[in-house]
Amino acid sequence: MLPKKNPTQTESWLKLTNLFDDHLFVHMREQFDQDPSRSKRYSQQAAGLFLDYSKNRITDEIWQNLKDLANELDLSTAINAQFTGEEINGTEKRSVLHTALRLPSSQSLIHNGVDVVPAVHAELQHMKSFSEKVRSGEWKGYSGREINTVVNIGIGGSDLGPVMVCEALKPYHTSIQPRFISNVDGSQITAVLSDCDPETTLFVISSKSFTTQETMTNAQSAKNWFLASGAKHQDVARHFVAVSTNLEAVRDFGIDQQNVFQFWDWVGGRYSLWSAIGLSICLVVGFNNFEELLVGAHEMDKHFQQEGINSMPTTLALLGVWYSNFYGAESYAILPYNQHLNRFAAYLQQADMESNGKSVDRNGNPVHYQTGPIIFGEPGTNGQHAFYQLIHQGTKLIPADFIVAAKNHHGLANHHHQLVANCLAQTQALMMGKTAHEAETELKTQGLSSEEIEVLLPFKIFEGNRPTNTIVMEQLNPKTLGALIALYEHKIFVQGVIWNIYSYDQWGVELGKQLAKPILKALEEDQVFEGDASTKQLLDLIRKFS
Ligand code: F6P
Repeated sequence: MLPKKNPTQTESWLKLTNLFDDHLFVHMREQFDQDPSRSKRYSQQAAGLFLDYSKNRITDEIWQNLKDLANELDLSTAINAQFTGEEINGTEKRSVLHTALRLPSSQSLIHNGVDVVPAVHAELQHMKSFSEKVRSGEWKGYSGREINTVVNIGIGGSDLGPVMVCEALKPYHTSIQPRFISNVDGSQITAVLSDCDPETTLFVISSKSFTTQETMTNAQSAKNWFLASGAKHQDVARHFVAVSTNLEAVRDFGIDQQNVFQFWDWVGGRYSLWSAIGLSICLVVGFNNFEELLVGAHEMDKHFQQEGINSMPTTLALLGVWYSNFYGAESYAILPYNQHLNRFAAYLQQADMESNGKSVDRNGNPVHYQTGPIIFGEPGTNGQHAFYQLIHQGTKLIPADFIVAAKNHHGLANHHHQLVANCLAQTQALMMGKTAHEAETELKTQGLSSEEIEVLLPFKIFEGNRPTNTIVMEQLNPKTLGALIALYEHKIFVQGVIWNIYSYDQWGVELGKQLAKPILKALEEDQVFEGDASTKQLLDLIRKFS
């Protein structure tokens, strides 16, 4: 079981509160001047990733106390509980074993008296043989043509993981085009299907529960579109497969049992891309690359399990706690300097915000401290020309992770040099800032008069001292991507342990779903809506206009 301690009642929390007061005015720039070994000391490597966390507002004493906090809150016990399959998802009484999906076949993991690894590998084999048949052209559409488009229909974890990975691994795509339908807004399915040929399109209906309204509606519309093209009911089996834990609901939907890929209730939706939910990834980049993704994640799992409090995920987690709980930072930026990671921040929004967006602790009491931050981000350099101004000179402290690969896949050296230079320059600027003296000297060099300088100077000063982490990898490939995703998964877990919250449920998404039902009924049956005056007014207005 997970420990249930209030972090604010620990000795380390109190010490950190005092250290925060003592170090409020210490500037990182001075720390770098005084200690050239700082960058080496605050760097680490794991699973093909290099993390430089020296540009953070920490001293050795602060860092030690943050680790003491993790120790006092029994992080090692919690890690062990997760990896061995204890029911750490307390409100749903479930184990959390996405790490078992990445175990090699030579290992075993006993869950409820059964070794889960053979079942995991049997499903992987199923994914392998199916994806190879489709990719080689052996699997044909109903008219005898090969499949060239895969449409994944799913939402949340049944969409964001596959989308993000397919985008990230674009250089590994071959003959199959991936497309994604998630939103119940009919404009998405209309746009996607307008580009698809029913004879050469394969639909993967991905839904852990197989009851999610958006996915079921989109799946039904896709089936109607397919049948309207002249295909027969018996052709559905060649064009529709399903991924789910709910085999009964899949059967009711009419999908051939042979075309069902399964996973288990110990895989959380937002941690499911490693399971059969990754089928569309396999179809697009090939099973070998999917396996490499698992290998990279497993390397990070081993590192996390072995190093625990000293691991890279814990480093990121503790720094996040430092800024959230002591500096009051409310947001966190994910800034990949890699266009292929353009959906990474969106993916982490679900992983992090659905996991740690909680305000009740594991004892059922309200929490009186910050928990999960608001995650946002865009790839560099685009973000530099959009929201970075606020990170540099705004009133808010926004810790940020910069992610960059040393090698690219495109071969345009001048582009890549500029990309890397910008990435490093941003972290340097955020750390160093620009003093009044530096700004004044610069303006003088530009030939401005002293009157002009006096007016302009306040706007030209950068306070600096803004915290960043930089994650470097040799190349963004399936293996390093797997490690990167697992790094953040474990970071989120560590923070949940520290904040004494349950990271693996998501009750907060239920109320909106419930309240949509009577509104939908009123819309569909043109009935009077019995509810609050504002909602009623809006509904009436929409009905009037429609
Ligand atoms: O509504 C939130 C949620 O339950 C997510 O946690 C999940 O990833 C998503 O919906 C989709 O669920 P399913 O895979 O069961 O369709």
